[in-house]
Amino acid sequence: MSNNRQGIAPHGGHLINRIATPEQKQEFLSKADFLPRVQLDERAVSDLQMIAIGGFSPLTGFMNQQDYNGVVSDMRLANGIAWAIPVTLSVSESEADALQEGSLVRLDDSTGRYIGVLQLTEKYSYDKRLEAIKVYRTDEEKHPGVNVVYNQGAINLAGDVWLLERDPHPLFPSYQIDPAVSRLMFQEKGWNTVVGFQTRNPIHRAHEYIQKCALETVDGLFLHPLVGATKSDDIPADVRMRCYEILLENYYPPNRVILAINPSAMRYAGPREAIFHALVRKNYGCTHFIVGRDHAGVGDYYGTYDAQYIFDEFQPEELGITPMKFEHAFYCTRTKQMATTKTSPSKPEERVHLSGTKVREMLRRGESPPPEFSRPEVAAELARAMRLA
Ligand code: ADX
Repeated sequence: MSNNRQGIAPHGGHLINRIATPEQKQEFLSKADFLPRVQLDERAVSDLQMIAIGGFSPLTGFMNQQDYNGVVSDMRLANGIAWAIPVTLSVSESEADALQEGSLVRLDDSTGRYIGVLQLTEKYSYDKRLEAIKVYRTDEEKHPGVNVVYNQGAINLAGDVWLLERDPHPLFPSYQIDPAVSRLMFQEKGWNTVVGFQTRNPIHRAHEYIQKCALETVDGLFLHPLVGATKSDDIPADVRMRCYEILLENYYPPNRVILAINPSAMRYAGPREAIFHALVRKNYGCTHFIVGRDHAGVGDYYGTYDAQYIFDEFQPEELGITPMKFEHAFYCTRTKQMATTKTSPSKPEERVHLSGTKVREMLRRGESPPPEFSRPEVAAELARAMRLA
């Protein structure tokens, strides 16, 4: 792992920047009315942004067929670099027919706003079922990640992209800390080792416990909740962010933690997504990454620790970021503290743990999660948000 004063190297060696320069932007704007258009959904918009800011380094655009095939079958790009999740732009056959390889394509968001440009180099069809089985380990349509694949267009468009403008996030502008900036912040703070934390759920005490266990051995914690597209019954990002603010204010040393948003969409691909999440955090400058129980899982598609085992399929230097693996954490009523079976003598009935689904159900019934599960200030905020919803 190369980790010098510049910090850990981005994946693939250097940080990609695909934000148009003022001159490029001017040129693209002048062509606005002449270019063929493709409208992006929420996921594709966030993928475009992530490519542009270097969060998906070494990707410079949407994947071509060779990279796609390598990633689906072998978790490697065509050049051999590790990568676990396809990053593709899918359109219908008729839309694809209207586009010419070799041309520039205007990329609009769902409101029709011109936000980026694709240099179309390749159009290719792909096997959705194979992608589902390889990447998501199931071909069931009810898996939320597979469902997206089955419902997207049949043709992938490949090529480099440019983002016209890096707009502030509409809800969380002060937490929009892009990789070039997070890297600088880590350096300024003198953090040589930084652990990244992915989450899509409201913070609970098991999260806090594993974050703090990790922080005992590294210099800083990069709290990086995902705020891109999630499935409809996940708790909305603004509520989750408020919970984080409340928790940080009351329970964390301010000089050891940076809270920032991860604009990506959730894939729910469990083990594959754990690798992807780790590589993205490496691009933000993290040297370590937390992988707990059923990371990025959904329902019972994945074994509790599958997302940890998958790291063994790579040489450590292929990934260049160190996973910090944690067992299922719970509140132990016997020792009256957070623990795992590695550190607690408890019997199963002495362990307080609630699944995300259980907590959502409680909140919907107007009940607050207990203090053994959630800090009271966070529970109160969740209950308040659910009353307003
Ligand atoms: S995820 O889809 O983003 O992984 P979540 O926000 O619940 O979901 O989890 C964030 C991180 O905390 C993941 O690494 C997950 O494995 C870990 N985690 C969540 N709950 C526990 C728990 N009770 N014990 C150990 N790790 C946990």
